[in-house]
Amino acid sequence: MTTYDNILVRQEGHVGVVQLNRPKALNALSSPLMKELLSALREFDTNSEVGCMVITGSDKAFAAGADIKQMAEASVVDMLNNPFLEYWDELTTAIKKPIIAAVGGWCLGGGCELAMACDMIVASEKAKFGQPEINLGIIPGAGGTQRLTRAVGKAIAMEMVLNNRTLSAQEAVQYGLANRVYPVETYLEEAIKLAEEIAVRAPVAVRLGKEAVNQAFETSLTEGVYVERRLFDMLFATQDQKEGMAAFVAKRPAEWQGK
Ligand code: CAA
Repeated sequence: MTTYDNILVRQEGHVGVVQLNRPKALNALSSPLMKELLSALREFDTNSEVGCMVITGSDKAFAAGADIKQMAEASVVDMLNNPFLEYWDELTTAIKKPIIAAVGGWCLGGGCELAMACDMIVASEKAKFGQPEINLGIIPGAGGTQRLTRAVGKAIAMEMVLNNRTLSAQEAVQYGLANRVYPVETYLEEAIKLAEEIAVRAPVAVRLGKEAVNQAFETSLTEGVYVERRLFDMLFATQDQKEGMAAFVAKRPAEWQGK
């Protein structure tokens, strides 16, 4: 497995785990870190032993945002020329297997945007979600105003973006941003357990299920349902569909081939 400077990477069962590892900077998301993160996720995405991924940080900070020190002196041309913020989008477009964010503590700015670019969020009860860019004289730039608004609605999103409101883990679940909350001692283990459950399901169906749900954010209802139907039909070309239905009828567990 490749080793990196800013992240730690390991495989647990069928789960690829990436831990952001800049503890002194509260995992501030720098260009090198984001580049490494994408590279590690791409490696897991093409590893047939891995069915799902978990991104985590430390119990203190999932990530305290994009690296402010890296951006502080940047000109508009520097920002335009640096593909840095596009790394967040690639997470949702280039990575086909599901990703779960396991959020321990601060989940701010680009950190919150990174968690929202994942497919699910498992939080510790100490997690804090926020978009504090307004304090720096800027607004979120990696999807924060868009994904946050779709998740929590306009009222809460406006408070977060315009007035630095932070959400507790419980609030994040209540408003539809996070899936589950666990004690800080167990949230990572629970996230990996959830990822393992998904990882051993029918792989092609998992991949198309992720694609279909994400389509809901891109299209009208009629077009989205059309895309869903075509993906649904496509699954009838897989051995796993025959196996899944035969196993149901025979009252036995299915054995998935990913074919
Ligand atoms: N970028 C760079 N360095 C950061 C950072 C960031 N986003 N967040 C924290 N750090 C660094 C601090 O500068 C500090 O480094 P030094 O020891 O060298 O001074 C170290 O991490 C520890 O931070 P604090 O001393 O501030 O820790 P704290 O416990 O007192 O406070 C915190 C924690 C409330 C999270 C605070 O660090 C904070 O407010 N961080 C910035 C949050 C923020 O504004 N995020 C948005 C960034 S912009 C963005 O993300 C744009 C986008 O949409 C892509």
